[in-house]
Amino acid sequence: MSLKYARFAGATGVRIGTVAVAAFVTQSCSGLQSPLNPGGDLADRIDHLFWIFFAITAVVWLLVIIAMFSGLRRKPPRPDPLALQPDAERRMGVTVASAAGTTAAILIALTLYSFFATRGFGVIPGNALRISVIGNQWWWEVQYQGANPAGQFTTANEIHVPIGRPVSLTLNSRDVIHSFWVPNLAGKMDLIPGRTNILNFTPTRAGIYRGQCAEYCGLQHAHMALLVVVEQPNEFDAWRANELADAPTPSDPEVSRGMAVFTADGCAGCHTIRGTGAGGMLGPDLTHVGRRRTVAAGTLPNSRGNLQAWIADPQGIKPGAKMPRLDLSGPDLQAVTNYIAGLK
Ligand code: CUA
Repeated sequence: MSLKYARFAGATGVRIGTVAVAAFVTQSCSGLQSPLNPGGDLADRIDHLFWIFFAITAVVWLLVIIAMFSGLRRKPPRPDPLALQPDAERRMGVTVASAAGTTAAILIALTLYSFFATRGFGVIPGNALRISVIGNQWWWEVQYQGANPAGQFTTANEIHVPIGRPVSLTLNSRDVIHSFWVPNLAGKMDLIPGRTNILNFTPTRAGIYRGQCAEYCGLQHAHMALLVVVEQPNEFDAWRANELADAPTPSDPEVSRGMAVFTADGCAGCHTIRGTGAGGMLGPDLTHVGRRRTVAAGTLPNSRGNLQAWIADPQGIKPGAKMPRLDLSGPDLQAVTNYIAGLK
């Protein structure tokens, strides 16, 4: 390798390294799916915990490296191997004992700090917004609890919560173990069949935060995402009022035909659309699916084109998904898509 090329390669390597580090830092510290960009109280505590661990362990690492290099550079005198050196031995003993003591003290302090950091989050506040989240292969069922049945509704893959009000999630699974992880808001919590786990947090900053199933749960584990929309209380109330309502009845004859195809051609066997004859329980509730931001649990952005592609061939987009390909005719596919896209 010529010197010129070596310099070029070195400079390029440094540049690539800088870009990679910068990308890592910006990605991990500011993303819509990052524990280092907290939007809630629990994530805030975890963020502090991370930086304190990082700072203390970085200082320890630096001190160890400095000690090692100064030890390597020192040229010790060559003493008589048989001579006793009580002073030097005592100093060495004190150094080793204090290093071991400091290590133990740091470990105990960090353990206590991490213990107390998330303590108290197991208690459900009285005014908490209670939401039941049920893991399914490979989507999230979201049931908003209310004081009475009139205040309850079911949606999927997108959770809305108001800023400042505590949220209590009850986590369950209908099939295998999944894990709920929205890093900007809280730590991970598993959804386990036959067991109920609770996750409490209070959102503190408006935004749309992405969550991802964090426990391998089968073929489409990677396509099991969700969004949490943290919004102003009045925006949340408007969203909730709309979700509580039945699906709008289409007036356009073409859209009405889509509704008829949906109800007659198998879709209704798995999906519920409140206010219609469709009452299936196997797939996501589609009553207001047109307002959600994604299709197929975060797999595609919600657009008319993506909806149609998904209905036409779910197995092509998410192989192994429980939704079968129905082989609708072209006009039926168009009509159903128009109907579904209009469920706002
Ligand atoms: Cu559900 Cu991984």
